[in-house]
Amino acid sequence: MNRVGFFGLSLSALALGTLLSGFGAMAQDDVVAKRKDAMKAAGKSMFGTLGQMSRDRKPYDQAEVDAALAQLETFSKSIAPLYPESTKGAPKTGDYSASDKVWEDRAGFESHIADLDKAIADNKSKIKDLDSLKAVFPVMSKGCSGCHETYRLKNS
Ligand code: HEC
Repeated sequence: MNRVGFFGLSLSALALGTLLSGFGAMAQDDVVAKRKDAMKAAGKSMFGTLGQMSRDRKPYDQAEVDAALAQLETFSKSIAPLYPESTKGAPKTGDYSASDKVWEDRAGFESHIADLDKAIADNKSKIKDLDSLKAVFPVMSKGCSGCHETYRLKNS
């Protein structure tokens, strides 16, 4: 290989590398945005619908309750893949970010996903009216706060 050819090659390899790491950063932002959207949607079901009803701030409606529970069940199963290792150390944007502990103690993080999953599975069929919703709401919402206490950081 002549000199020019060699430099040409390494330059294009460099350009390609830059391009690929650019894509990497974009994909990282995408995943973070996606999981924040998923968390916000779960927030609407858990606190906007179930929480507001259990505080008598919204009329009880079984169809809405069932829809919220179904959404939360799907949500809990979607959490793990939204936290790939490649998003560790992603820029902290918005109100909340994931702590590095998500990846440093993955088993602990996943045990909270399992807790949420169980809290919904164990309680969904118990919710038949306002009183039963009020009885199980604290247990179900603890499935969210249990993880947030350790793995969610408030950005100042
Ligand atoms: C296994 C851990 C875990 C569970 C379970 C969990 N979350 Fe989160 N949540 C996080 C983390 C970490 C963040 C920080 C944002 C991020 O990850 O980028 C977050 C952020 C949020 C946010 C803020 C989103 C934003 O950036 O504005 C809301 C709202 C939220 N969660 C709601 C919920 C609700 C409701 C539940 C339960 C139905 C829940 N979360 C269950 C880990 C969890």
